[in-house]
Amino acid sequence: MNKIEIKSVLTVYEDVSELPEDIQQLMNIAVNARKKAYAPYSKFRVGAALSLENGEVVIGNNQENASYPSGLCAERVAIYQAGAKYPDLKIKSLAISASSDIKETLTPIPPCGACRQSISEYEIKQGEPISIYFMGKTGRIIKADSLKDLLPLTFDKDQLI
Ligand code: THU
Repeated sequence: MNKIEIKSVLTVYEDVSELPEDIQQLMNIAVNARKKAYAPYSKFRVGAALSLENGEVVIGNNQENASYPSGLCAERVAIYQAGAKYPDLKIKSLAISASSDIKETLTPIPPCGACRQSISEYEIKQGEPISIYFMGKTGRIIKADSLKDLLPLTFDKDQLI
């Protein structure tokens, strides 16, 4: 019997102003996307903005539905839109901001497990890591250099055949 250690090193920024300028802009776009989320049921709003290798930015926000499971998270709205619109362009960075109408969200809110799995598909497809920055409404931001740091032991296509 052996044990293995799984380690992720993440970067913490105290405030948006500490981020590199291009990422500050990306986070601002995510915040604006968050404000347009359709979240009448949870009142929990998430905005995502991802930058592509050609400088294009694709946004997403959560879209809820009276049939709850039919809704979709912001991160997947964004990544699927990028996959549909720019299938051959690499994704460089993803910025995420989440807030609740019910309680303060001043700590970084990470993407859910299903979104991590979805993002991982595109990171593997493009063969280059995606930097992921996540924040609450405002305040501290956590950066993962790759999706792998948020989802070790990923299930991927190599396990299928
Ligand atoms: N949500 C996201 O948009 N991203 C996540 O990573 C977690 C959750 C949305 C889904 C739902 O509309 C609301 O937040 C509450 O779960």
